[in-house]
Amino acid sequence: MKHVIDSTDLTVEEIDGILKLAQDIIDDKEAYSEACKGKKLATLFFEPSTRTRLSFESAMMELGGNVLGFSSADSSSATKGESVGDTTRVVSCYADIIAMRHPKEGAPMRASMVSGVPIINAGDGGHNHPTQTLTDLLTILREKGRLDNFTIGLCGDLKFGRTVHSLIKALSRYKNIKFILIAPKELRVPEYIISEVLEAKNIPYEEVESMEEVMSELDVLYMTRVQKERFFNEADYVRLKDTYILDGKKLKNAKSDLAILHPLPRVNEISVEIDDDPRACYFRQVMNGKFVRMALMLTLLKANGAKLNLSADKLA
Ligand code: CP
Repeated sequence: MKHVIDSTDLTVEEIDGILKLAQDIIDDKEAYSEACKGKKLATLFFEPSTRTRLSFESAMMELGGNVLGFSSADSSSATKGESVGDTTRVVSCYADIIAMRHPKEGAPMRASMVSGVPIINAGDGGHNHPTQTLTDLLTILREKGRLDNFTIGLCGDLKFGRTVHSLIKALSRYKNIKFILIAPKELRVPEYIISEVLEAKNIPYEEVESMEEVMSELDVLYMTRVQKERFFNEADYVRLKDTYILDGKKLKNAKSDLAILHPLPRVNEISVEIDDDPRACYFRQVMNGKFVRMALMLTLLKANGAKLNLSADKLA
């Protein structure tokens, strides 16, 4: 059974195939509108979400399938003490594919060990968020026309920001990408990602604290929210939450074709005055999230032997 728990569960060829399929869906939506007729997606969200859950659900509906699930642990039998494993075993009797978000790192991995249907990690604690990464890759590809030969600045909470961890792992497999990691000391990228991904592959990276000093170098700027829900201490969050606020003044030296991404939700780290700048891609990024999740579900269902309602040329 093929699952997607980490961005590294997909080969570069598989990622490129999903991005290509997502672009075909964008260009020819009608051809996919019945592809998942009779199929059911279960969204098991033990932690809050707006984009990820609703884009998964919208994606399955636009593929002609149905959706069931819950949007908080409180409305599931987890409140009675049911384990993630048992919940997954039960739901895999009702659904053809499961998207799971959980505050505990590793919960979707545990689910994949007992599931009878494909599991997609929709975010586990401060660990990984592989479908956000597919969204980010499709956005970079559509905005820049390539997934190689650029400098990306990742800014904000690089310690708890699971989208950053998954994105670094995925982009580290493409050619000639330089990473500039912009964070206060307390919120730097975890050491295992530096040593096991960037240093192990000899990938160029810098760790800096000032956004302004590197702005002119960047082709892509990936802003992130300081993850309040992962802090043990409110005072630390309050001290760090507004470390970076991107505004017009900070963009003064930026490239004219900079792509500004943010997984959202934002709190205060991008001023709304930036939203109308053509370089602000984050709302286009949201739309890409739905198409890439359509492509991922089709790919996983097909890989696991499901019969899809697609014409022969689209099934190839
Ligand atoms: N980007 C993202 O994961 O957003 P949600 O938490 O709203 O799903």
